[in-house]
Order: sequence, then C-alpha cells, then structure tokens
Amino acid sequence: MASGKPNPARKPEGTEDLYGASMRAWVRMREVAGRVFGAWGYDPVETPAMEQLDVFVHGLGQATDVVRKEMFRAITSTNLATVIAEGGEGTLKASRRLALRPEGTAGFVRAAIEHTFVPQGASCVKSWYAGPMFRGERVQKGRLRQFHQIGAECLGSDDPALDAELIIMLMDFYRALGLPEGALRLRLNSMGDSACRPAYRELVRGFLLEHKGELCEECVARADTNPLRAFDCKNEGCQRVMSAAPASADHLCGDCAEHYAKVKARLDEAGIAYEEDPTLVRGLDYYTRTVFEVEALTGMGSQAAIGGGGRYDGLVELEGGKPTPGLGFAVGFERILIALEALGVELGGEEPPCVYVASAGHEPELENAVFRACLALRREGVRTERDYQNRSLKSQFKQADKAHAALCVVVGSDELAAGEATLRDMATHEQTPVALDALAREVARRFAALTAPGERGE
Ligand code: HAM
Repeated sequence: MASGKPNPARKPEGTEDLYGASMRAWVRMREVAGRVFGAWGYDPVETPAMEQLDVFVHGLGQATDVVRKEMFRAITSTNLATVIAEGGEGTLKASRRLALRPEGTAGFVRAAIEHTFVPQGASCVKSWYAGPMFRGERVQKGRLRQFHQIGAECLGSDDPALDAELIIMLMDFYRALGLPEGALRLRLNSMGDSACRPAYRELVRGFLLEHKGELCEECVARADTNPLRAFDCKNEGCQRVMSAAPASADHLCGDCAEHYAKVKARLDEAGIAYEEDPTLVRGLDYYTRTVFEVEALTGMGSQAAIGGGGRYDGLVELEGGKPTPGLGFAVGFERILIALEALGVELGGEEPPCVYVASAGHEPELENAVFRACLALRREGVRTERDYQNRSLKSQFKQADKAHAALCVVVGSDELAAGEATLRDMATHEQTPVALDALAREVARRFAALTAPGERGE
C-alpha cells in the first residue's frame, strides 16, 4: 500500500517554468517589443489562450500538421462525460469544442472580427501580443509543447510597404535584443494569391506525381491533400526532389509579381539583407503573397527558425469577416534565448540591485527603525531588502551582498539616539552618516546615482 508523502509532481514534458534569469528575460523581451513595436504604431493586445477549435481548423487549415497532429484540445469534465456517454466530440456544440492556441494569428483575427477592429473606411490596425502557445510536438532542443511567442499583426491594407516595414521592424527587434543582422538569415518568398496559386498548386501536384517513386509516403499523399506542404517535408530525399520543383515566384500573376518586387525594393532601400527561397512555404495554410522566416546561424541545432510570418489576405474572410487584407509575424522566445546564449548575450541580466537595511541588534527600537526605514524606502520606489531571521550584523552584510545590494543602511542604538543611521557603499565599503528624517530621499538619490546605466561598468 502506498504510504508516506506523495512524490512531488513534475512539470509536463515540453513545458518550462520561468523564474529567475529566464523570467527576467521574458519580461525584458516584452519590454523591448513594446518599445520597438510602439515606434511603428503597434499597440498591445491580448486574446484568450483557448479558442473554439474551428477557429484553428478553418484558420490554419485542416491539412496542416498543427491541426492534424499537434492540437491540445480543452474539455471540461462535464463535457468529457457527455462525449464518452454520447460517443464522440461531434456531439458537443461547436462553442464547446475548444483547443489551446497553437499560435496567435487565428485568435487575433477572430477578435478583430468580433470587435470590428477595422471599421469600414478605417486605416490599418496594428497590434502585438505576447504569450504562451501550445503544440503537441515531439520535444527536442528549441521545440517545446508550451512555448512563448511575441507576435505582431496588421489588418486593413495590402500595401507592399507594410510587408517591408513589418520585416524591418522584426529585424530592429532582434537587433534591440542583441541579435545583429549578421547572426541571422532572412529567407523570403511570395506564394501568390487566389488568382495564381490554384494553377501553381496544380503544377506542384503534377510534379509530385511525376516523382512519386522518390518521395516519402506522406508527400505522395500530399499530392492530393495539400501539395505545397511537400516543400516543408523534413525527409532529405524529399527535400532534394523539391529543390527542383517549380518555384512559386516564377508563377506569380502580374499583381503578385509587382507586389513582391515592391516589397524587395523597400527592403533593399532599408539595407535589409535577405535570401529569396522558392522552397519557403511556411507550415500554416493562411499565407498569401509575402512569406518570410528568420533563422539564427549558430547554436540552434535543427530548430533554427527564431521567427516567421507573412501576408494572409484571405484569412479574415475565411473566419467569417469582411474581406480584409492582413499580415504579421511571430517569434519564439525560447529559441531567441538559445540564439542569444550562443552569442554570449544574457538577456535576463543580473538580479536587480537593491538597498539593504541592516540592524546592529534586535532591540525593539532598532526593529522599529528598520521597519520604518524599509517602508519609507519602498514607498520611494527603491527595491529594499532586510533580515527576517534575527541574523547577526555580519551575516546581514553577507545577505546584502547576495541580494546585490548597492547600499546598506545600518541602524544601531548610538546612531538612533543621534537621529542618524549609517549608509554603507557595498562596493567601496565607505560609510557615511545620514539623518533619519531625510533617509528615504537621500538613500533613493544615492541609489539612483549608483545604479544608473553607465555607472560601475554597467
Ligand atoms: P510559426 O512559424 O509557426 O508561425 O511560429 C513562429 C515562431 O514560433 C517560430 O519561428 C519559432 O521560433 C516559434 N515556435 C514555433 N513552434 C515552436 C515550438 N514547438 N517550440 C518552440 N518555439 C516554437 C506562427 O505561429 C504564425 N502565427 C506567425 C504569423 C503571425 N504569421 C502571420 N502572423
């Protein structure tokens, strides 16, 4: 019989706990996103982590790996009982068939339709988001089942300047995080639109059937379901065959060719280096025209894509809205961290500095003084630490070092009687008296000066 304490639970496979440096990195990445994207007119938005399953099935495409194999379904216990009793998920109303979001675009577009983000005659709406996404993938380095994306979406215009601006903004974002353009590879392609894509798909279907004998089983099946997915196949034999397949950029209609040329011209003008890659089709079905993907060149293993996106001019209509062009991208937080680590960049940085308030004894008047000093400092906005374990002064100093204290306020009986405390600079060990009635303001001023960027080698 089981006895004693239960084993502590472990996190589910392919998920990560964010704390300490990784949590600071996530906070920092969102701050950088807010600053960089804000300059381009993108405002933050947040949509639910789950949506009706159909939002993803219609949005991403029934034949995509994400929908076919990787969706996490969300179901309440009551609904599960109904499904079991009545024989299948189909017995549930569509509004009760839910899934955790595998990406952010389909849910964003659902929200944009529901709340009319782009009213008739309005110019574009530009939004960005950050949050966890869920895909039931085979777990490996850089491939998780719960990962974090930061994404940006723009609805309302098919102007190619927007495609170029979106890509430039993305490269600005990487640079602001510490990933220079030279450490990255930007691949670009155009997938055409509803005017030219059907004929191109047929061309690729014909090519797949011609090379049936050299392709994996799945790619042969793709000839019927979704021929362009064969470009995405990880099988080396298939990749070799597909490198000779007809390229979409060579089969664009006049409008799409002109659109693609304008996107490239704008990127050239901004000095953004890119490689045209005719095999780039992306893993989701909503894309039209411009598609792009960014890879980090070192340290990544097989999961090198740190971001990707493109245009989706048909998606709003597909999800039941008025025809509205759109485009966007998303980046993977965990993969960017791997890329940064390979370059020796620690995005999370050190724990933030603080002021430590130490007590030379444990008399009630000293404890009162420590309590009051901490209260005043924290209300001045200074990160303040103190002891709660009745430690000796020596071990409080050790604690202060561990807590990255830049300054230590020492409260002792004699000083207290004189209406003072001692302020100790933790780097130089220099000590100066400070009047208790001016303590918070004075310490906050000294702390701000010490910890300002550029001080002490920061
Ligand atoms: P995606 O290429 O599927 O695009 O994902 C974007 C990024 O999320 C990838 O480049 C990668 O860095 C990260 N990522 C994807 N799957 C995983 C995973 N299993 N583990 C860790 N990181 C992962 C999209 O999701 C589209 N919604 C992008 C978009 C927005 N297109 C238009 N608008």
